[in-house]
Amino acid sequence: MMQQEFEKLKLEALAAVKSAADINSLDELENKFLGRKNGKLTNLLKGLKDLPEKEKREVGPVANETKKAIEDLLAKKRNGLRAVQWGESLQNERVDVTQPALPPREQGHLHPITLIQNELEDLFISMGFMVLDGPELESDYYNFTAVNIPEDHPARDMQDTFYIKNHPDWVMRTHTSSMQVRAMQKFGAPLRCIIPGKCFRNEATDVRHEHTLSQIEVVVVDKDINFSHLKGMLELVAKHLYGKDTQLRLRPKFYPFVEPGVNGEVSCFICKGAGCRLCKQSGWLEIFGAGMIHPNVLKEGNIDPAKYQGLAIGFGLMRLVMLKYNIEDIRLFESGDMRFLEQF
Ligand code: PHE
Repeated sequence: MMQQEFEKLKLEALAAVKSAADINSLDELENKFLGRKNGKLTNLLKGLKDLPEKEKREVGPVANETKKAIEDLLAKKRNGLRAVQWGESLQNERVDVTQPALPPREQGHLHPITLIQNELEDLFISMGFMVLDGPELESDYYNFTAVNIPEDHPARDMQDTFYIKNHPDWVMRTHTSSMQVRAMQKFGAPLRCIIPGKCFRNEATDVRHEHTLSQIEVVVVDKDINFSHLKGMLELVAKHLYGKDTQLRLRPKFYPFVEPGVNGEVSCFICKGAGCRLCKQSGWLEIFGAGMIHPNVLKEGNIDPAKYQGLAIGFGLMRLVMLKYNIEDIRLFESGDMRFLEQF
């Protein structure tokens, strides 16, 4: 009797499903009984269609009930096994809230020179200046000749230059003024830019002298630029750095690439001009080199000095940073000494 075969199959299937130990064996059992091809129940159901009508009506419900019972138990068992698996993985992945915290990951920070450089870049950007970068290994031409320091000119001796072995035309740039003519040639007039960067001099190093220095060059070229603009610019930077009461003093100084050229000093922010150790009792701190760009330099930059004038300022950043943070030895900047660096 077909009915009994269904009953038998049901008992067999339910018993097997009940004792299945994991999801894999459940899958196998599902295939074994319900699989489309050759599933035991599937095969039995196929036989139904050959039964006489009356018997079909009796066996039909039993067949359906068998299938449903197997499917239900499979589903129930599957949920049960899954819950066990999840439970196990939860157990493995659980967070131990009592474990002591790991030490915080070390975070880097900016070098004091970068801090001041960023601050000055922001100031100039707010006034519409471009910030340019330039090569540290520079041609003799841009470092000297282009800025009105011809070969054999004694001004070349003002800066002790690192020359490059076997490359007589190359130098480590001695100042960011090497970018003046590059900027003019590339962007023409009008021009407003600053060039922060490293420069190199063959110095005997001590607390105040270093072979690698950071400078910022300020270049403005436009129609009707005059000395007042230069003075205004210097004042602005000085007050930005040392407060609005800062006084500015200009004295003539020779630089081949400017005419007239000046040496800019600011009133000492420690003693307010009275004289102290920092300013060597003078009341003034020497900060800037500056001047109106020499016509020869404008010409070299393909700019007509009859139509345009320019101003240029150069200043060392390290000096400013030393003053600002009260750093007593310039060599600390390049030292890589963590005890120094971690203070910023
Ligand atoms: N290049 C000069 C220096 O390094 C500074 C300077 C720049 C002076 C621009 C005048 C104009 O000493």
